[in-house]
Amino acid sequence: MLQEGAGRKKITYFDNACQTLRPKQVLDAINQYYLKSSACSGRSMHQLAAEVTRECDQARVLVAKFLNAAKKEEVVFTRNTTEGINLVANSIGLQKDDVVLISDKEHNSNLIPWQMMARKHGILVKIVPSRPDNTFDLDAFEKLLDPKVRLVSFGWSSNLDGVTIPVAEIIKKAHQNGSLVLLDAAQSAPHHKANVKALDVDFMAFSGHKMLGPSGMGVLYAKYQLLEKMDPFLVGGDTVASSTYETCEFLPPPEKFEAGLQDYAGIMGLGAAAKYLMDVGFDAIEKQELLLNEAITAEIKDIPRLKLLGPADPRLRGGVVAFTLEGVDSHRIALMLDQMAAIMVRSGQHCVHSWFNAHQIKGSVRASLYFYNTMEEASLFTSSLKKIGKVL
Ligand SMILES: Cc1ncc(COP(=O)(O)O)c(C=O)c1O
Repeated sequence: MLQEGAGRKKITYFDNACQTLRPKQVLDAINQYYLKSSACSGRSMHQLAAEVTRECDQARVLVAKFLNAAKKEEVVFTRNTTEGINLVANSIGLQKDDVVLISDKEHNSNLIPWQMMARKHGILVKIVPSRPDNTFDLDAFEKLLDPKVRLVSFGWSSNLDGVTIPVAEIIKKAHQNGSLVLLDAAQSAPHHKANVKALDVDFMAFSGHKMLGPSGMGVLYAKYQLLEKMDPFLVGGDTVASSTYETCEFLPPPEKFEAGLQDYAGIMGLGAAAKYLMDVGFDAIEKQELLLNEAITAEIKDIPRLKLLGPADPRLRGGVVAFTLEGVDSHRIALMLDQMAAIMVRSGQHCVHSWFNAHQIKGSVRASLYFYNTMEEASLFTSSLKKIGKVL
């Protein structure tokens, strides 16, 4: 992984929930576009354009394989998870008094779009409370399921504490209720196998930059029959087969949702990232993250004043170790880890302000791991944190 810039000493990168590092294969795919076939896809007839069209199509095939989608046309390229969620919010025809269920731990990207729909169209947003240990409460969810619930939209794995929710049961119960399901997979797609066909999920949004891919590149997966019925959210060039001064004929999905000139290099980079992760394999990814999380949790759990966010058991927190240290500002800890040992973590409210405000917590420190992190890095982190715990 590329992480050592010119003249910079070795870093320990534990901010993977924000953005991961990239392998050479991804950079090569991005460069290949700019160096070899820097042209428009689809629009022109010449050989460069044909090459771009072919490469982008190949990337879509790779992403569809990554998700086990029924067909590549179920993969809509977006800029990021946020755009995918906004697309669903604005395109499924939500009406006044329709209910959207979310959890009490959603990232702003899976909260604010629904708040806007409430403000503009009079939908109701209902919150499923988590259990006291921050795990998903299936009973509370079931109690809120009623015929008014058009959509349930949950973060598959939490960026707050790493907790993964029981998506198979949730989808089954939602479908029995006649509700659609959208998964915010920003934090799960990089770490856990997503088999959209087996799960029967309706929508799933995720971002390239959290799974080794380029930033500004994301995916909305959606069942094809839903995409066919949905109106596009952004419209314009490349979304239509033809137009008159009065009207237009939209292209079939996914094109009708991909307005304007696309990030071709980003698409190719994302395809390379999906391939890289499939080659590494999710068993190996989960195994390494757990190994590291177990080692870190065992070492830090007894630091005085330290409180882990989420369940104590690292097996329930994937690659995330989030905590507060009573009486100490989270940003101060993050800065000290960086200054003392070049360890990069994130601090603050992690775009989950609603949860922090509700719990009256100012912020947390979050170490988020990925499969390329090592035990040596884990011990540097725990020994540095112990020192910080003593001096602050
Ligand atoms: C759970 C979750 N959802 C959504 C997002 C938003 O992702 P993006 O900024 O790539 O749209 C993030 C980013 O951190 C996240 O962790």
